[in-house]
Amino acid sequence: MNEKITVLDFQAKCDNGEKIAIVTAYDYAMAMAVDAAGVDAILVGDSLNMTMLGRENTLSATLDEMLHHTAAVVKGTKNAMVIGDMPFLTYQLGPEQALENAGAFLTEAGAQAVKLEWCPRASEITQFLVENGVPVMGHLGFTPQQINRFGGYHQQGKDKASAALLLKEAKALEAAGAFGIVLELIPADIAKKITNSVSIPTIGIGAGPDCDGQVQVLHDLLGLMPDFHPKHAKAYLQLHESIRDAVAQYVSEVAAGQFKLKG
Ligand code: KIV
Repeated sequence: MNEKITVLDFQAKCDNGEKIAIVTAYDYAMAMAVDAAGVDAILVGDSLNMTMLGRENTLSATLDEMLHHTAAVVKGTKNAMVIGDMPFLTYQLGPEQALENAGAFLTEAGAQAVKLEWCPRASEITQFLVENGVPVMGHLGFTPQQINRFGGYHQQGKDKASAALLLKEAKALEAAGAFGIVLELIPADIAKKITNSVSIPTIGIGAGPDCDGQVQVLHDLLGLMPDFHPKHAKAYLQLHESIRDAVAQYVSEVAAGQFKLKG
């Protein structure tokens, strides 16, 4: 059995020029499959609010729901690092609130790290968590918990001033001790510049090919969401259709009185 991947392995991969592959997962069975596939980390993203719970955006995901799904993923994972995503308003109030809630991802759910989106106190919060033993991955660019401020799923960092701000935030997260930074929906050249300007790994989603790694939402990779096909996602399967067809075959066999087990 391989050792569990740690923040040191992340940094070593980045230093050696090896790319880091991260995918989301939200339950035991999927965690077993993606872990066996060799991902470096599994992000239990608050995207589960849409993919698993059918809600409109990430805002209403609760800490209890995130911990519940994270614990299931941890049970199904042998090697990958499990990163729990801190939901909206569970860290923005400040370091103490963040430590209490981030701590629960490690103590109750068994994750190795947490991810939090950029907010005005993100570097202060990150430093406090890291100093207290909670590894933190930052998240810059299109941060879904701020969808109401952004007014939709829009690319960020398009003009000079906002690109410069992203670079400043990335450096602040690095200085605060973050072990990596997700860069979401930003121009590829800006992501490349940030990647070349910080020593910690950058993990892109809709941020071009030059980040130190990539993260994808599992339901997008597998084609599980029939009505949602983000431009930055690559579907390797059309699993919604495959499941529909398999179950439809079962339904018709049962209806026709022809259902029997093989052999
Ligand atoms: O919640 C999530 O799945 C995420 C990824 C898209 C980075 O934050």
